Amino acid sequence: MALPIRTRLRRVTASEPTFTRPAAPMIAPSILSADFARLADEAEAVASADWLHVDVMDAHFVPNLTLGLPVVQSLLKATDIPLDCHLMIEDPARWAPPYAEAGAYNVTFHAEATYDPVGVARDIRAAGAKAGLSVKPNTPIEPYLEILRDFDTLLVMSVEPGFGGQSFIPSVLEKAKAVRRLVDSGDLRLVVEIDGGINADTIEQAAEAGIDCFVAGSAIYNTADPGATVEKLRSQAAAARSPHHAAH
Ligand code: DX5
Ligand code: ZN
Repeated sequence: MALPIRTRLRRVTASEPTFTRPAAPMIAPSILSADFARLADEAEAVASADWLHVDVMDAHFVPNLTLGLPVVQSLLKATDIPLDCHLMIEDPARWAPPYAEAGAYNVTFHAEATYDPVGVARDIRAAGAKAGLSVKPNTPIEPYLEILRDFDTLLVMSVEPGFGGQSFIPSVLEKAKAVRRLVDSGDLRLVVEIDGGINADTIEQAAEAGIDCFVAGSAIYNTADPGATVEKLRSQAAAARSPHHAAH
């Protein structure tokens, strides 16, 4: 499903409740690759992470099934790391706001899952969270550029959503670059996030494309020291960020 292409973007005004670019690259470990029976410990293992990425899958929007609101509510009590909830579910208008009400920091849903992304974003924000829009690898970004004014984060999927451990799809970086340009020019203000196949071999090209926040599941949790891997990935991304993209 694609929304109609709108006219020129108006500039974002300073009063709009959106993010400014983070000074350092953000790392969001995905607990999809963690031990679900030990989630509190697995969060503690990445204590220096910027966000903890929580993949909610409903076995309808994606073929896989993971966890839902009760687990997020428990996780919120178990960690101080802001939760970045990635809802790979149908009917986000119904199911997304409760994650915001529960205390998730950022609630992202899929553009492909609703005809009213702006309405869902409004409800998420009204419930006290940042609102994120995600696009699958084959979903073009152009039809959504105008409505990104109503979001705090854009999550560019660099694998087909549903499973961890898949290979990075580099062509999605064109979408990230297009949005980065609009953020740099002041036409949009939001965090550009990427999810899928991010590891030591792929994070640099994503950083060069202007990504602010990097989700990584298997690359972090399948290592002996997940906390050290967070630091390594962040340093790698920082070094690869071009001076043009430096925070100012
Ligand atoms: C996939 C999920 C990702 C997943 C990424 O649908 O949205 O967050 O955990 O896993 P890796 O980093 O292993 O590709
Ligand atoms: Zn995810």
